[in-house]
Amino acid sequence: MFRVLVSDKFSDVGLDVFRKAKGVELDYKPGVSADELSEIIGDYDGLAIRSGTTVTAELLGRATRLKVVGRAGTGVDNVDLPAATARGVCVMNTPGGNTVTTGEHALAMMMALARKIPRADASLRAGKWEKNKFQGTEISGKVLGVIGMGRVGRVVAERAKGLQMRVIVYDPYVTPEQAQKAGADKVELDDLFARADFITIHVPKSRETENLIRKDTIEKMKKGVRIVNCARGGIVNEADLYEALQVRPRRGRGARRVRQGAGDGEPAVRARQRRRHAAPGRKARRRRRKTWRWRSPSRWWTTWSTTSSPTP
Ligand SMILES: NC(=O)c1ccc[n+]([C@@H]2O[C@H](COP(=O)([O-])OP(=O)(O)OC[C@H]3O[C@@H](n4cnc5c(N)ncnc54)[C@H](O)[C@@H]3O)[C@@H](O)[C@H]2O)c1
Repeated sequence: MFRVLVSDKFSDVGLDVFRKAKGVELDYKPGVSADELSEIIGDYDGLAIRSGTTVTAELLGRATRLKVVGRAGTGVDNVDLPAATARGVCVMNTPGGNTVTTGEHALAMMMALARKIPRADASLRAGKWEKNKFQGTEISGKVLGVIGMGRVGRVVAERAKGLQMRVIVYDPYVTPEQAQKAGADKVELDDLFARADFITIHVPKSRETENLIRKDTIEKMKKGVRIVNCARGGIVNEADLYEALQVRPRRGRGARRVRQGAGDGEPAVRARQRRRHAAPGRKARRRRRKTWRWRSPSRWWTTWSTTSSPTP
């Protein structure tokens, strides 16, 4: 008998594949703790996982019978590949299965950001009707920067063209011709940061891509940029993003305000808040206006136009 352990939640369709297979004995333990898994892993020839199980070198060290780890999903970044390779354990995943779903989800996030749907929804559920507050922006004609032009990136790029966006892509492993096939222009990363109104991330999490979006790269982005990450946590450095979303004193003035949500794992955030919330409060503005008018009217107008620019 080939003993298989499924350690994450699977649908019945997925479990039936094992149940119907000849010579396979299935144990289904979704959400098994790391300690228990470590105790029992030695009894199994196969381990089927999703994202909940992390297959570490220590776990593999106890998996004396294990021949294969199969991940129902795209990517194998929750498996220690060098350790598995060293032990002769084959690691597989199912790329493509939910590519369209993920691409469409990224577009849904983008639309939600553009139209401020989550905040408007929360406001309405709180019994308010603040429609002027949630005016939003059109995505038509805007520049979409796609980081990673693989299966999902391509789905997003092709559909974004249908939404009349201008699509630019950064992926060092695709040719300009391959990008063109999806209607996108291949650019360098800094160029993408400088030009994109929306940025969507579709790269695997790796040493190369971890913290790809961090303090210094956020600084390179356009004012008002909106970022969607439907790939993996950790590609965006949440601490840096959170920091960027906080109010910073502009030119040594202004109140400090914190935008809640972004620091606790919100999947899609608007870096735009970084600049908007940099605007001083009403009282401070009035005070500043009086002082600056008196000192130099032209200087006041310059500052005013940058701190209260209309929704793009
Ligand atoms: N496909 C899905 O259903 C799905 C679902 C959820 C999450 N994800 C995540 O999204 C990622 C992308 O999925 P995919 O199916 O498109 O994978 P993929 O392997 O088809 O595409 C990944 C692309 O990223 C590019 N890339 C690699 N390193 C890069 C770097 N440093 N800079 C820029 N580009 C780089 C590769 O050249 C490739 O074109 C997955 O690795 C996974 O972590 C995918």
